[in-house]
Amino acid sequence: MVEGLSFRPASVEDADTIDGIATSAFGPSEHRLSEIRRYLTLEPNYWLLATIQGDPVGVVGATDYGSFAYLGMMTVRREFQRKGTGGALFRRELEWLEELGLHRLRLDATEDGFPVYSRAGFEVFDEAVMFELSEPLVFGDIPDDVRVLKEEDLGILAEFDRPVFGGDRKQLFCALLQDFPGRAFASHDTSGDMTGFLFVQHKRIGPWVAQSPDDAEALLRSALALPFRGSPVAVALGLNPSSGELLDRFGFKPGRGSRHMQRGIPSIPGDRTCIYGQTSFAVG
Ligand SMILES: CC(C)(COP(=O)(O)OP(=O)(O)OC[C@H]1O[C@@H](n2cnc3c(N)ncnc32)[C@H](O)[C@@H]1OP(=O)(O)O)[C@@H](O)C(=O)NCCC(=O)NCCS
Repeated sequence: MVEGLSFRPASVEDADTIDGIATSAFGPSEHRLSEIRRYLTLEPNYWLLATIQGDPVGVVGATDYGSFAYLGMMTVRREFQRKGTGGALFRRELEWLEELGLHRLRLDATEDGFPVYSRAGFEVFDEAVMFELSEPLVFGDIPDDVRVLKEEDLGILAEFDRPVFGGDRKQLFCALLQDFPGRAFASHDTSGDMTGFLFVQHKRIGPWVAQSPDDAEALLRSALALPFRGSPVAVALGLNPSSGELLDRFGFKPGRGSRHMQRGIPSIPGDRTCIYGQTSFAVG
């Protein structure tokens, strides 16, 4: 046990501290602080800070989707890594979630995180790869069957998404629509039924779900009609090869990846063949 190591719940007031920890481990990112604030506001209950002699050095959080919770943002300041802090923080978080009745857990593992999660009984069931478009193709027009999502669509959207994602993301969609108004789309069939949706964050395309590659493409074209702050990126899944193929066709190049892991879930939840892009590595 690291001397002076202790744990305390984190709140949205700790967002700058958490951003500092993440910057030390991952390097700077223009949009991370707003993302941390969004996730802590969305799910204020399951975030934990590791402190040494009172100074925050590590963080981990979880988002509850009802049928499972998604662990994310697991980070220890670079100078404190490989001393047992991350392992102890993760074990404490798991104990805490167990006490609160959250047993079904999922996460995205980096190379650094993978051994910590494996030791805690998590198993790999898929992989995710970040694709980046360094020279955006600009599409001026949004296809006819695609409409801009409004707040009143969120109920239908959450019901459409539930069997695909395997959990309830309505609160997340609500937060994303508030932060990115006019940057979310839904595609429809000739009867007007929803066939897919996509949110466009500052530079990340996702969450992105579609019933077919054609629907996914119509949504991607709509996304690329918008301005981006930086090169557009999307996180595609191994269990849906169509997502990587589509992104490749539009000029996106694959980059860093992660392994999806889960614990306490007997089967793979949802239908991952319809997921084209994740929200982030932190919340699935
Ligand atoms: C993943 C991460 C949070 C782990 O935190 P950590 O404090 O380094 O974790 P631990 O020290 O408990 O364990 C890490 C390794 O150090 C080893 N270790 C633990 N105590 C040690 C000690 N006293 N001396 C030497 N090695 C030690 C562990 O056995 C483990 O080894 P392994 O990875 O080869 O199995 C940290 O590496 C990190 O922030 N990485 C960058 C961000 C990242 O990728 N986060 C994961 C997102 S999924």
